Amino acid sequence: MAKEKTVSAVPQHVAIIMDGNGRWAQKHHLPRLSGHEAGRKSVKQVVQAAIHHGVRYLTLYAFSVENWQRPREEVQGLMGLLRGVIREELNEMGKEGIRLRTIGRKQDLPDAVREELEAAIERTKENQRLDLILALSYGSRAEITEAMQAIGREVKDGKLDPDKIREETVSAHLYTHGIPDPDFLIRTSGEMRISNFMLWQISYAEIYVTPVLWPDFGKEEFAKALEDYAGRERRFGGI
Ligand code: FPP
Repeated sequence: MAKEKTVSAVPQHVAIIMDGNGRWAQKHHLPRLSGHEAGRKSVKQVVQAAIHHGVRYLTLYAFSVENWQRPREEVQGLMGLLRGVIREELNEMGKEGIRLRTIGRKQDLPDAVREELEAAIERTKENQRLDLILALSYGSRAEITEAMQAIGREVKDGKLDPDKIREETVSAHLYTHGIPDPDFLIRTSGEMRISNFMLWQISYAEIYVTPVLWPDFGKEEFAKALEDYAGRERRFGGI
């Protein structure tokens, strides 16, 4: 097998909207949940590829606040899958130096999933090779609204002067506080949408949309995306 290529300008933080599991399942005449199970394999490949290329933070949009509206069996299936992945991959995360983190409304998750997650977050908190951030019950508008509420409370309690509210103040109240903003946003399965994902944090991110469905997105596709990123000139509003 050909040696995996490494690229020069590697984004520090890659965020991915993993889309197309349902369409992949339909294409293969399988139930939707089989699409999510196939998507799990892509997650594993992309995590390994991110480590290989030296990406430091990887955020995966695994479940949105809107996803609770899906049929009960699909939601339950996804929650079961998530719990299984955390349990089965915990040792591997330790070996690979992966720190598991989450962003989103963790309180919405079923107790069993939340407990499994919290244990894994605690067990991996000293790891420093890759921060794997799962967006779970995540919605960017909900995140910004919660930040506004927290800032409002601090103002009301006299702990914060409204004139001293800076962009950094807002960032510090988001789920992602302490995590650098994504440099690169990947969306699979061709949809030209942001879908309420990290609206504040992706202000200057480079965007890459591929028609490849998430279950078909493996390490080669990830390397291709990184190569595309490396060829871009980032100006952050300058010239
Ligand atoms: C979007 O495809 C995908 C999801 C809503 C779930 C993502 C979950 C996984 C990849 C499973 C395992 C993940 C982790 C992190 C353990 P879709 O169902 O919206 O696809 P469609 O638009 O084609 O219907």
